[in-house]
Amino acid sequence: MRAEELRRKYIEFFVSKGHVQIKSSSLIPDNDPTCLFTTAGMHPLVPYLQGAPHPAGTRLTDYQKCVRTGDIDEVGDPVHLTFFEMLGNWSLGDYFKEDAIKFSFEFLTSPEQLGIPLEMLAVTVFAGDADVPFDEFSYNLWQELGIPAARIAKLGRKDNWWGPAGITGPCGPDTEMFYWTGDGAAPEVFDPADKRWVEIWNDVFMEYNKNADGQYEKLARRNVDTGMGLERVTAVLQGRKSCYETEIFAPIFAALDEVRQLAAAPAERVASERIIADHLRTATFIIGDGVTPGKVDQPYVLRRLIRRAIREGRKLGIQGYFTARIATAIIDEFGPVYPELEQRRQVILEELDREERQFEQTLEKGTREFEKFIARVPEHITRKVISGKNAFYLYETYGFPIELTVEMAAERNFVVDMEGFKAAFEKHQEMSRQGAEQKFKGGLADDSVATARLHTATHLLHAALRKVLGEHVEQRGSNITAERLRFDFCHGEKMTPEQLKEVEKLVNESIQADAPVECTETTVEEAKAAGAIGLFENKYGERVKMYRMGAFSCEICGGPHANRTGELGSFRILKEESSSRGVRRIKAVLG
Ligand code: ALA
Repeated sequence: MRAEELRRKYIEFFVSKGHVQIKSSSLIPDNDPTCLFTTAGMHPLVPYLQGAPHPAGTRLTDYQKCVRTGDIDEVGDPVHLTFFEMLGNWSLGDYFKEDAIKFSFEFLTSPEQLGIPLEMLAVTVFAGDADVPFDEFSYNLWQELGIPAARIAKLGRKDNWWGPAGITGPCGPDTEMFYWTGDGAAPEVFDPADKRWVEIWNDVFMEYNKNADGQYEKLARRNVDTGMGLERVTAVLQGRKSCYETEIFAPIFAALDEVRQLAAAPAERVASERIIADHLRTATFIIGDGVTPGKVDQPYVLRRLIRRAIREGRKLGIQGYFTARIATAIIDEFGPVYPELEQRRQVILEELDREERQFEQTLEKGTREFEKFIARVPEHITRKVISGKNAFYLYETYGFPIELTVEMAAERNFVVDMEGFKAAFEKHQEMSRQGAEQKFKGGLADDSVATARLHTATHLLHAALRKVLGEHVEQRGSNITAERLRFDFCHGEKMTPEQLKEVEKLVNESIQADAPVECTETTVEEAKAAGAIGLFENKYGERVKMYRMGAFSCEICGGPHANRTGELGSFRILKEESSSRGVRRIKAVLG
């Protein structure tokens, strides 16, 4: 079964069970200061898992693009990916354990669906601990469905608990399904430590909310959240040891072979090839969601992915520019499934090409400098170190992401003095600002009144920016805590003091007008016809919420908001600065 068929079958199956298909959300989380990227299908649904009504109803299904960079250094081996697609189905206070498990079982085993023989399956359930009891219900139900007790493992919180995407949020015990990938028949007794059993699906029973004090409180409504990794499941169903061996990566590798002018595909792929394929796939999707390479946050991760891919390309002996050629193959392949890639094709290719040219100018010189640092350290020294100062020099002068320097150093049995690097980094003005940024990581975009007010202020700011600067202004990111808002938008140049004053004035005027904040549920099309700013077209299913603040602002958004603009008090811009190329960032507070 090909990935395309698995994706389609999954969605069709859950639609046939009363679910509404919703579109994949952006990879850039909206209003979540705790994560840089969308890391799971449930991530964009957090407000709804916490109780907000979803416009598309209580049974949802989708395929969601995800980025996880935690294991980025492992990419190159046959299993790790930084980008993947997650198939999921959700119950928002609708069905619970019984239906969730029955749906999973039917989809996995029914001959019309995946048709996996029972003998190939095993499951785990939550064993219970001091806070939450053993999941006896799931344990019994799996047996009723035909999974023998010997194939059901009871595991603890480390394995069978799904924690919140941020630090606080919805969570609960889960039950995971495993597929036998070893040679010959699967052992009768399931040993979850045996790596030949591969996890293919996870059903999470979200009954709890972890609050800011770290306590588990029962949610008013019980939810189901599930996740099936498309690439991994495609690989195991095809009997392949690696997702890189499936048809998903074939066009990407073919483009790579072409760039390398190979007469025939190599018999086996090597780490450099996998890194290039993975990193450029991730980069293509990130740029497709409006990010451009830069120095902090998502722009920095993007830069790191691209630059690492380029360096691996050089290792393979590629001479010319190649990233845009690979991205073309990626867009051709995924454009039909993720239309934003097709829509932003030109931008993606240009950004990759620009970044590649920029890095190319310094890669060679920087590598020479790096070699000099290495050469200066005498052979006999056992702990060989690149000083923090030198690592920072490579970063600052040649654009070497620190992770790249660390990796190059490791290849030569060197370590980088990270403390020294951080010290040098913090002295640098631009960078010390990033350090300050990270202090905010403690707070999830919560439901507090303060956060809701700042969120409302963000809409007013957005509208004011469009009035003062023009209609080209579009939101590129937003990050709100109870203390301040941060808003990224496209605009080519620094704002003048007069423009900033004017924006502030417009926002304060609409606060003083004390307009009611009105929420209507509607469709994307109707919202657009009503003049709403429709940035989040890809975010929701058919029905969306539209927030109107007097005649001043009208935007599609998930909330929450203040009740009236008058509650905002007064609005003040603290800073306007560059966020990445063509994107400006405003920080502002209410007082
Ligand atoms: N949220 C669960 C996961 O990502 C389903 O595994």
